[in-house]
Amino acid sequence: MSGPKPPSSEPLLDVRGLRTLFPIGDGEFAPVDGVDLRLGAGETLGLAGESGSGKSLLALSILGLVPEPGRIAAGSVRFGGRDLLQLDPEALRSVRGRELALIFQEPAAALNPVLSVGEQIVEVLRLHRGLDRRAARAEAVRALGEVGIADPEQRFGSYSHQLSGGLRQRAMIAMAMVSRPKLLIADEPTTALDVTIQAQVLELLAELQSSTGMALLFISHDLAVLSQIADRTAVMYAGRIVESGPTRALFQRPRHPYTLGLLRSLPELTPPGAELVALPGQPPRPGHRPSGCRFRSRCSLVQERCASEEPHLGSPAGASDQLSACHFAADVPALGGER
Ligand SMILES: Nc1ncnc2c1ncn2[C@@H]1O[C@H](COP(=O)(O)OP(=O)(O)O)[C@@H](O)[C@H]1O
Ligand SMILES: [Mg+2]
Repeated sequence: MSGPKPPSSEPLLDVRGLRTLFPIGDGEFAPVDGVDLRLGAGETLGLAGESGSGKSLLALSILGLVPEPGRIAAGSVRFGGRDLLQLDPEALRSVRGRELALIFQEPAAALNPVLSVGEQIVEVLRLHRGLDRRAARAEAVRALGEVGIADPEQRFGSYSHQLSGGLRQRAMIAMAMVSRPKLLIADEPTTALDVTIQAQVLELLAELQSSTGMALLFISHDLAVLSQIADRTAVMYAGRIVESGPTRALFQRPRHPYTLGLLRSLPELTPPGAELVALPGQPPRPGHRPSGCRFRSRCSLVQERCASEEPHLGSPAGASDQLSACHFAADVPALGGER
């Protein structure tokens, strides 16, 4: 495929107004409801939000993998200068195989139980990079070694059930990396792992990113994990991005009460002396989103306006690089409380 090169000012990934619908009862429900997201080449964007906020469906929507009977109803997904939503299925599959890769929480679902992990990587290499069997085998062994799997020659023949959770995750990463993606979408890749292995996998992803220059969309409900890896972070709530900005700025001084609530409930991120507070309530259930601001029923800053007027992402005064979808972004207290 040859198209005009994107101008350097265009981000690698530029998602606008993305909306994905699923039927519910007599109507439809939008787990992804007008999402805007930008990611530059080589950058790591963290995507945060409680379980059910729509993070996985956002990732699947970007990749054109929304499960039936869901459908993308609006928006655009520009990637490397073209809109993925306008590509025919074959062209999209080709982009997915070569330039975009996905890894997720449960490698068992990605790995074929009846093929050795090495053979699976060989298949990817033959399909997407056109290597012959011998070259593909050598490359697969190299790829297994590159993700820190000891004795890759021997591991080539292992089946996924013979590997520990951490090794399985590494094998899935190896499989994703052999197509040399420009963007890797990692959906809760460390959530199922214990803390030590989790840290190793995070370190591996950071290393691979700096050695290859790929961009990373790192999805996690765990803000403590994102604080370690993301350059910028976007926070999703009930289908929308409610805050985004440089990770450090956003964690130091959140501009949306939801982000503040998430941070205040995390011991790792709470400054010494500040009180730990659990975020009250639950995200709205599918089909039961309130009018106006969808966070208002859980919000400590709520006022009348929040029920009638839906807030949109904008830059609050004094925080030009942060965006917040809160009418009262300027009033969000500092993480440490009033000090
Ligand atoms: N295949 C599906 N069919 C219908 N609804 C779904 C499907 N997958 C997810 N959902 C719903 O969409 C919402 C967002 O889910 P998901 O994207 O998995 O959230 P997250 O990854 O943030 O936990 C949830 O309410 C979930 O129940
Ligand atoms: Mg998910």
